[in-house]
Amino acid sequence: MRQKLLILLVYTVCHHATGAAVGEHCKDYGTQFERTFTVPGEAAVLNCSLVSPDVFDTHTTPYNISWYDQRSGTELPGGAGQPWARDTMLWFLNSTLEDAGTYECILRTPSSCFKLASVLIVDPPKTGSCGRPHASIQQLIVNANGVLVCPLLTYMDHVDDFSIQWYKGCEPIHEGDKFAFVGKEKLFLKHVAVNDTGSYTCRMTFDLNGTIAYTAETIEPNVIEQWYQQPIVYEPVNETIKAGYEEHFNKTCRVFVQGKGKIDVDVFWATAVEDISINPSDRVHQAPLSKRNVENGEWLEVIIIFMKLKEEDFNQTYTCMAYSNKGIVISHFVLQPADESFIFLLVLLFAGLVLTFVTSVAAYKIFKIDIILHCRSFFPYIYTRAGSDGKIYDAYVVYPRMCWHGSGGSAEIFALHTLPEVLEKKCGYKLFIFGRDSLPGEAVVESVQENICKSRTLILLYTASTFSNLTSNLHFEQEVGMHRALVEGMLKVILVELEEITDYSRFPTSVLHVKRKQGVIQWWKVNSKRTSHPQLSPSSKFWKQVRYRMPVKSKTTCSSEKNGLLNL
Ligand SMILES: *[C@@H]1O[C@H](CO)[C@@H](O)[C@H](O)[C@H]1NC(C)=O
Ligand SMILES: *[C@@H]1O[C@H](CO)[C@@H](O)[C@H](O)[C@H]1NC(C)=O
Ligand SMILES: *[C@@H]1O[C@H](CO)[C@@H](O)[C@H](O)[C@H]1NC(C)=O
Ligand SMILES: *[C@@H]1O[C@H](CO)[C@@H](O)[C@H](O)[C@H]1NC(C)=O
Ligand SMILES: *[C@@H]1O[C@H](CO)[C@@H](O)[C@H](O)[C@H]1NC(C)=O
Ligand SMILES: *[C@@H]1O[C@H](CO)[C@@H](O)[C@H](O)[C@H]1NC(C)=O
Ligand SMILES: *[C@@H]1O[C@H](CO)[C@@H](O)[C@H](O)[C@H]1NC(C)=O
Ligand SMILES: *[C@@H]1O[C@H](CO)[C@@H](O)[C@H](O)[C@H]1NC(C)=O
Repeated sequence: MRQKLLILLVYTVCHHATGAAVGEHCKDYGTQFERTFTVPGEAAVLNCSLVSPDVFDTHTTPYNISWYDQRSGTELPGGAGQPWARDTMLWFLNSTLEDAGTYECILRTPSSCFKLASVLIVDPPKTGSCGRPHASIQQLIVNANGVLVCPLLTYMDHVDDFSIQWYKGCEPIHEGDKFAFVGKEKLFLKHVAVNDTGSYTCRMTFDLNGTIAYTAETIEPNVIEQWYQQPIVYEPVNETIKAGYEEHFNKTCRVFVQGKGKIDVDVFWATAVEDISINPSDRVHQAPLSKRNVENGEWLEVIIIFMKLKEEDFNQTYTCMAYSNKGIVISHFVLQPADESFIFLLVLLFAGLVLTFVTSVAAYKIFKIDIILHCRSFFPYIYTRAGSDGKIYDAYVVYPRMCWHGSGGSAEIFALHTLPEVLEKKCGYKLFIFGRDSLPGEAVVESVQENICKSRTLILLYTASTFSNLTSNLHFEQEVGMHRALVEGMLKVILVELEEITDYSRFPTSVLHVKRKQGVIQWWKVNSKRTSHPQLSPSSKFWKQVRYRMPVKSKTTCSSEKNGLLNL
């Protein structure tokens, strides 16, 4: 009968058709928003809602209500078959299509008068449908239990007796596994399914002052899928998190709720004592809840933000709570000061690397000669093989020969015996020693130049007196011939000092230049203690130095060399 429709009916009161007495001025409340629907043969009721504290003082002021048919202006009830007025209501017990129209109730108090119009709509029933043409909508939720309420009930307080019968479509509903009747007006549906959609009609039979009447209302429930399961907190995971003092820190609480439709879950951060502030200007606060719908549910996220970590934040338990009608799910984290030992470890590692590097460099400096010699013997293929440069001799040996000063003797022994003994016999170098290898009668200068050209290195042996004597010096210059070779580095020069030298003032600049650049090898130093037995082992320090400066030779190792690296 009554249907709440939020349609604003702008109704203009037609004064000549009004029930108000001539000269009576009633305050007009227009037309009631709610319209009343019925079908022919069934009851309908209009209610004059002017009896309200908003209109007048209903407790202390006496009042009379009169009903008028607005079309005719006649007062109701006017006789047999007319609607009945009872309390604030006007009852149409057996509606006809002609009853449709606007009815006006006028409420009179001793001092005032109010009027309000109500609209009655009488529609013929839809053929082929057992429900009413105007259905109301109620909501049912899938997988939950549901209740439909017959909207007619409010009027049943004013009838003498009534009973309700429910129908789904045209079929009467009986109590059972699916349905139950609750109270007088409610239909209970157990475990609602999608196929529970349909048209539900409550049909009421009532007795009003001895007259039996019928009325009905149809509900077409909106069956919606709405359910969700216990939320799952994916983050935090009851963890301990390390963070540094004064740092910015944040942690997101990530909650997933499986379900469909409206998911009513709240997520927030709290300590054991209180909720975290939601004020974004607080040092520790939580951001607003963000929700993201996915196919099978919803992700909810709330981030807790520490703008700057303070002492008091550590060792504190921060709990994320997901609150729903299924209870509370919680998970927490605890902050701990970042472990400084990690940084310490890094520093240590770095220091270790630096130390290793420094030691390696130092070791290389110290063992350079051994390493190079070792490499030459183990990986000969990476060095240019002898002979590939068209030279014949590995070294051209220059030594002071024209000596009347005594020291020449030892130089000649060294040049003609010691040197060939080690370098030629033991290590396989090919030397050119002037006087031994030069042909007699050869022009000295040409021979020197030619053979130096055929050599890869120049071994220059000298004693303290070698350059002090003008003759010897001249001879030397002549023999060596080429200042260029010495100074311009065209030939590699190995200087071997046979005696301890204190005064270099007489030395030619070219020799001093080479000495400064490459250093000298001092035979007298290693050999001073054992003059009787000259050091002849190729793996002794002296010979290693010589070998290191010598070009790479075709023979890879020296015969008496056991282990070049260990034999320092
Ligand atoms: C009828 O209207 C009055 C106010 O005038 C209200 O108090 C009452 O509840 C209404 N009756 C029904 C059944 O809606
Ligand atoms: C109500 O109606 C009766 C009879 O018509 C009348 O005697 C009475 O004064 C009225 N009361 C008010 C408040 O108008
Ligand atoms: C309503 O009126 C019609 C004829 O006007 C009659 O046939 C029907 O029985 C009546 N219904 C009730 C409930 O009185
Ligand atoms: C409605 O659907 C439920 C499951 O969703 C099923 O158990 C029930 O038998 C169905 N009822 C009808 C009348 O089809
Ligand atoms: C109710 O019925 C009685 C007799 O049973 C009658 O006197 C009275 O007028 C009826 N009331 C209405 C509102 O029709
Ligand atoms: C975290 O601890 C709470 C109780 O404090 C517990 O209910 C929850 O299951 C724990 N979560 C995880 C991921 O262990
Ligand atoms: C959370 O912290 C990360 C880095 O830790 C930062 O990139 C991000 O902007 C922070 N978020 C908020 C809301 O402060
Ligand atoms: C946190 O607690 C541990 C022991 O549980 C303690 O050693 C540490 O000092 C505490 N740190 C702070 C910042 O309170």
